[in-house]
Amino acid sequence: MSLPVLSSPTQSESTSVFGALQDSHGRVIHDLRISVTDRCNFRCSYCMPIEGLAWKPKSELLTFEEIFQLTKIFVGLGITKLRITGGEALLRRGVVNLIENLAGLPDVQDLALTTNGYYLKEHTPDLVRAGLRRVTISLDSLNPQGFHNLTKINALPRVIESIDVAQKAGLTPVKVNCVLIRGVNDHEIEDFAEFARLWGLHVRFIEYMPLDGPGAWSRDRVVPGREVYDRIQARFPLLPVAGKDLSETARRFRFSDGVSGEIGIIAPVTEPFCGACSRIRLTSDGKLRTCLFSLHEYDLREPLRAGATVDELITIIQSAVFRKEPGHRINARDFIAPERTMSCIGG
Ligand code: 5AD
Ligand code: SF4
Repeated sequence: MSLPVLSSPTQSESTSVFGALQDSHGRVIHDLRISVTDRCNFRCSYCMPIEGLAWKPKSELLTFEEIFQLTKIFVGLGITKLRITGGEALLRRGVVNLIENLAGLPDVQDLALTTNGYYLKEHTPDLVRAGLRRVTISLDSLNPQGFHNLTKINALPRVIESIDVAQKAGLTPVKVNCVLIRGVNDHEIEDFAEFARLWGLHVRFIEYMPLDGPGAWSRDRVVPGREVYDRIQARFPLLPVAGKDLSETARRFRFSDGVSGEIGIIAPVTEPFCGACSRIRLTSDGKLRTCLFSLHEYDLREPLRAGATVDELITIIQSAVFRKEPGHRINARDFIAPERTMSCIGG
């Protein structure tokens, strides 16, 4: 069953005429990440406790109609980049229809999906038909035992197959996200670089952030982006790639010998990029988060369900964005980790 294709905002609904979404630090927001579920079939240690979490009951999740309604408002306010995340987004039935509707919004320039890759293979043809253009797959070990240690599931061959299928179907550039944890998978940095070259894909190394619930993260487990660069450079010399997008989080490199593939280094802990941040997040239960590390979030679900007008919702969104935090405080002495883990926030 497909969702009715709702119309895009009319001129009177859209406030792009009022200018873009801007915060009090002068940053313009054009990137929205939408988490469609807090559930996941993996248990990546950096993200979720092994016993899982108390999943939100269905009644607390935004319906796809509600997500679409809100997204149209965001797009009317100048959002041009959308990313669907989870938990594991492909666990939610009907997500392909949502993607189809979002792909039909005229002002959306970039629509991507982050997935753990488990169910991607079978969904790829439908996703492509729905209008998805790119996918990012989380993959933190190229070794079956290492993969199991990190995710608690034996799914490496499946994920690799999904990468292959996605690439052949044109969901390119396929990006692979690799969160590095000292003593866990940092010995695989060069293997991942080789993987990028062999497959011609983008591997992005991400510094481990304190988003795993209290306890497990510690600074000495963070592998600095600089170290990743030095190690790859020693084995496969790199050249910088100029990104078009100044708000891009990754520093990008290609291989100087011309072999295809790309390396991205995302270093939020040792080289924070908050000053250029252009992202906000909508959680699966309808809260607007202006930073991964926000200690406060803004409810959109209840006003929406209580019949708030588009203008009222716009006011909530604009005032939340205006208060967007200047940056994360991971490096501050009095840093407080958010209560929600990454699986609830949406990566
Ligand atoms: N630190 C860094 N990145 C994380 N992700 C999830 N948890 C963390 C964390 N604690 C990233 C993973 C995943 C994306 C959704 O978020 O790379 O691909
Ligand atoms: Fe699931 Fe993604 Fe979190 Fe891993 S990082 S547990 S795949 S939501």
